[in-house]
Amino acid sequence: MGTPNSRSYMVGFANHFASEAVAGALPQGQNSPQKTPFGLYAEQLSGTAFTAPRKENFRSWLYRLRPSANHGAFKPYGKKTHLETAPFTAPPSPNRMRWNAQPIPTEPTDFIDGLITYGGNGDVGAGAGIGIHVYACNRSMERVFFNADGEMLIVPEQGELTLVTEFGIIDLEPQQIAVIPRGVRLRVELKGASARGYICENYGALFRLPDLGPIGSNGLANPRDFETPVAAYEDVDAPVELVQKYQGGLWTTMLDHSPFDVVAWHGNLAPYRYDLRHFNTINTVSFDHPDPSIFTVLTSPTDTVGTANCDFVIFPPRWMVAENTFRPPWFHRNVMSEFMGLITGAYDAKADGFSPGGASLHNQMSGHGPDQASYNAAVNADLKPHKQENTMAFMFESRAVIRTTDFAMNSPSMQLDYDDVWSNFEKGNPQA
Ligand SMILES: [Fe+2]
Repeated sequence: MGTPNSRSYMVGFANHFASEAVAGALPQGQNSPQKTPFGLYAEQLSGTAFTAPRKENFRSWLYRLRPSANHGAFKPYGKKTHLETAPFTAPPSPNRMRWNAQPIPTEPTDFIDGLITYGGNGDVGAGAGIGIHVYACNRSMERVFFNADGEMLIVPEQGELTLVTEFGIIDLEPQQIAVIPRGVRLRVELKGASARGYICENYGALFRLPDLGPIGSNGLANPRDFETPVAAYEDVDAPVELVQKYQGGLWTTMLDHSPFDVVAWHGNLAPYRYDLRHFNTINTVSFDHPDPSIFTVLTSPTDTVGTANCDFVIFPPRWMVAENTFRPPWFHRNVMSEFMGLITGAYDAKADGFSPGGASLHNQMSGHGPDQASYNAAVNADLKPHKQENTMAFMFESRAVIRTTDFAMNSPSMQLDYDDVWSNFEKGNPQA
C-alpha cells in the first residue's frame, strides 16, 4: 500500500476491470481454474440476478487468501443504535421538515455506531426503496462492516475518510462521493478527529449513469471521472469483529483474520468514487429554470420508465445567465419526494437555516420553494451573468414518500419553525 496521495485508481463506470496486487495472481482465460495461482480461493460476488440482461448484469470474481465463508455464526449486535430500515411504519407526515446538522459525538463513536437514520421508503425485503442516514463519528473503525441490504452511496460533508474495502482502498473527501456495493467488506478510517456526512442506502436497482437523451454523448457525470481502486490486500492473522446489516438488523461475529485478503479481482461490480467537482453542469442559456433532473449524477431506476427509485442530484457551482427569469428554483409541488443536504456553502433557494450538515425533506405534493429573502433578492436582481460559487448541495429524490424515524422527528436538531419561511409573502394584486 502506498501513501494516500499515491493511491492508484482505474477509471470508467462499471467497466470490466481487472486488478492484481501480486503479479500473476489473476487467472487468465477463465474464472475458476482447478488450481488458482498461489493457492488463492476463487469467489464470485454478484450484484444482480444471474440472468439480468447483460447491460444490467454486475458481478466480480475475487481471488483471496481465505474464502469469505470462513466465519462462525453471527449473533445479534446487542447494542442499541439509531440505524433503522424500511419498511418504516410510523404514519408519514405531510409536513415540510428541516434539520440542523447532527452534533459530532462526544463519546468514542466509530462509523457503525455513528449511523443515524432519518427515514426512507420501500421495503428492504422486496428490494425496493432507500434508507437515508447521516453518520457522525470521531473514531476510525477497528472492525469491519458490510451491508447485505443494499449498496451505500456515501456523501461526506466534513472530514476525510479512508475506505478500506475488499477491492482496494479509496480516499474520500467532502465534495467526493463513494458507492460501496451490497455485501462488500468495509473499514472506515478517519484522517482527522471527526467526520460527518450522508448516506443513501439503496435497496433497489443499482445506481448507474442517467441516459443523456438529446444532451448527446457527453455531459453531466462523465464515465472517465469515476474511479475504482486497484487491488490491495492485508495478510493479517489477528481477531477482528465483523458486523453486518441484514434485513435491518445488525449482527456480529469474530474472524481470526482480516477479510481484506483479496489479492486480485476482475469484474464490473466494485466500489467507486466520483469527484462532484468534475460534474459537467448544464443549464439554460436563454430563459427559465430547467427541472433539476439536469443535475442528476446517478440514478436507481424502477420498472416504471423515468420514475426513479432514487436520483442522486447535485447543485454545484455554475453560471447563472437566464434572461428575464426568476433564477432560483420556483415554488413547486412534485410527485417525487425530495431529501436535501448541503455539503458546503449556501443553497440558492434558502438565505439561511439550511447549513452544511443540515437536511430538509419535502415529500410528495408538499409546497415549497424559495424563502422570503431569497425570493426578494431574486425578483429584484440585476440579471447580469453571475457565478454561483462555493456551493454544493444535493438531493436524494425518490418516487415514494419518505417516512421519517422517531429519532428524526424528535431530534433537537429539527427546526420546528420551518413553515415560517413561507408565511409572510405579500399577496399578488391583479387589480394593481
Ligand atoms: Fe424541491
